[in-house]
Amino acid sequence: MKKISLRLACLFLVAAMSVRGDQTETAPRSPLITIATSHWSLSLRAGADGRLYQQPVGTPPAAGNLKRNDEFYPQAGDGYVWEPALQVVHADGNTSTALLYEGLSQTNESADVTGTRIRLHDPAYPFNVTLCFRAHAAEDVVEQWVEIRHQESRAVTLQRMASTALLFGNNLYLTHFFGDWAKEMLSPITEKLTPGTKVLDSKLGVRADQFSNPSFILSLNGRSTETSGQVLAGSLAWSGSYQCEFDDNGGGIRALCGVNPFASAYHLPPGQVFTTPRMIWVWSGQGLGDMSRKLHHWARDFGLRDGHKTRDVLLNNWEATGFDFDFNRIAGLFAPARAIGTEIFLLDDGWFGNAHPRVNDHAGLGDWQPNRQRLPDGLAPLAAAAAKEDLRFGIWMEPEMVNPASDLFAQHPDWVIRQPKRDLELQRNQLVLDLTRPAVQAFEWQSIKNILSVPGISFAKWDCNRYLTQPGSGWLATDRQSHLWIDYVTALYALMDKTAKKFPDTELMLCSGGGGRVDYGALPHFHEFWPSDNTDPTLRVPMQWDYSYFFPCMAISSHVTHWGNRPLHFACSVAMSARFGMDLDLNKLPATDRDICAGAIAAYKQIRDVTQLGDLYRLENPHDTYRGALDFVSPDRSRAVVFAFQLQAGAPLPVRPQGLDPLKHYTIHELNPAPGRAALPDEGRTVSGEVLMRDGLVPSCANAVEASVIELGS
Ligand code: GLA
Repeated sequence: MKKISLRLACLFLVAAMSVRGDQTETAPRSPLITIATSHWSLSLRAGADGRLYQQPVGTPPAAGNLKRNDEFYPQAGDGYVWEPALQVVHADGNTSTALLYEGLSQTNESADVTGTRIRLHDPAYPFNVTLCFRAHAAEDVVEQWVEIRHQESRAVTLQRMASTALLFGNNLYLTHFFGDWAKEMLSPITEKLTPGTKVLDSKLGVRADQFSNPSFILSLNGRSTETSGQVLAGSLAWSGSYQCEFDDNGGGIRALCGVNPFASAYHLPPGQVFTTPRMIWVWSGQGLGDMSRKLHHWARDFGLRDGHKTRDVLLNNWEATGFDFDFNRIAGLFAPARAIGTEIFLLDDGWFGNAHPRVNDHAGLGDWQPNRQRLPDGLAPLAAAAAKEDLRFGIWMEPEMVNPASDLFAQHPDWVIRQPKRDLELQRNQLVLDLTRPAVQAFEWQSIKNILSVPGISFAKWDCNRYLTQPGSGWLATDRQSHLWIDYVTALYALMDKTAKKFPDTELMLCSGGGGRVDYGALPHFHEFWPSDNTDPTLRVPMQWDYSYFFPCMAISSHVTHWGNRPLHFACSVAMSARFGMDLDLNKLPATDRDICAGAIAAYKQIRDVTQLGDLYRLENPHDTYRGALDFVSPDRSRAVVFAFQLQAGAPLPVRPQGLDPLKHYTIHELNPAPGRAALPDEGRTVSGEVLMRDGLVPSCANAVEASVIELGS
């Protein structure tokens, strides 16, 4: 019975196809499937050949036959000759796959969210693919992922398994972000895609980014601006090696994004489901600003933890003390921390290790017991001392890592990721534990539980300071070594998920030697991320601008430090525009600087509901001009905050805020003005939103490294 239907399906497939030129075509067949949000829809249609086709994004519906080039999720080996979304070796060694449309189901998950599942099957094999979507109407966000399953006699090998393979028309601009340690996201590049392939990827295994970021923007029909243009931004929710490939074959451009196929062949046993990472797409017909605001709305609901709760002001000791501290030095920071108004203290690296004390970055990782010399009674007394000063207490950890100089490594040298017969390659003197090994999973979970269960701890920074360079697992079988990349990240997410569930009231910061892990794969378990070790505010202005395309400012940690030796007023103002924190030795700060910090914190507490929960308008791009400017508007548009950051000397031209209610009246007030500077020309004036947006307001800054933070209240 099964054999007959398979043969019929194959005959049907051949009969329904006709070949014109060098491209197979087929007649369209109902139904038209739409994945729709308020302002965007993805239109798919099964062809008479049974395959699934897509109307390229940004192009009008085509009359006539469907072209093979436009297949929605193309498969390798059976007629499709460009970059495939799926490439499989079946159990019998056949390297071709054909996917035919079988049916779909759509469900309303809420008033705003529609889930769609499209089932496809291979007519020659018990091999099934489900294309999954979650469309968020108001936010114009579509989450897309793929589930692959089969009932073949043995494992099939997945060689490519993209999360998405959207097709576009020809006139497409790509904006992507290159960087490196301390320069994350700092070099946005916009280029017109041309025939050939453009690949953004990483092969780092345990972090998505060191050089290239898995978030990008596609602008249709020309370059977009903050307020104009059709844009589709994409962000791959994956913290491991990824690939985003833009394949322009002259007939259209395909964006294929997913786990990096590099060295990652995955043997999928019968009966198991392989689920790809989610791709997050967001659409706007009104430029980059609207796109970001919608993505931020989505992120507050689905992309990060407690997205509707304001964050406390944090003081970190890393830049202040480095590894050089003990109980007294840290406890001595609490009273001044309270005096200037901070609300959480984060104890960074260096608190653990006894036989191999963590007094520098050469030793101790893996031995998560408090150092008895520095903290004779452990962490709890420090947390209690912080609580006495009304400060919450947080802790740094790097649970995935080990130094060779540690008890852990001495006991379990086989637990690390390494290649046999090769000299161990260290980065920052450390190795990555093999999280595919159940004993390592249990160890890391126990370490996390021990640390976060210390009474008084309600915040943690989860770091990851190296990537994989010798990707071998002593746990995985020799013919399963290529699973390491994917199984590591899957196990990592399980650990992060357990942590978030077991410690629901503990806020988590995602960090990876700076900004190596900034993605919506890990972020749903975290409250914020550390974007870069570089805290020079003149670089943070453009860096935070770039991150804000994809992530709400409440999630972008921004600390005041001495990096770059900039005036503290400028540094505070920059940090206030994101998730505000400090990393200064308050005991060494001159009184005038302490007052500036205290003034900034007090001001920030008045406006943080607007900057963290309001809508962001990017006004002046610091990459283009001598100044950067932003404003945030409260959800009811009754209040706004304008930030102007002067990077170089330049004319004090007015900054024109956006997003205000034209009919409302706003009173202008500069917050925490820099000492010695003249008051704003408009200080205290009450002006309508319409006039403010039309004429703007002149900030108090005009020289390099000056800033103005202006509240508009009504
Ligand atoms: C990484 C982080 C820093 C700090 C150090 C501690 O580099 O990015 O913020 O926590 O580790 O070793």
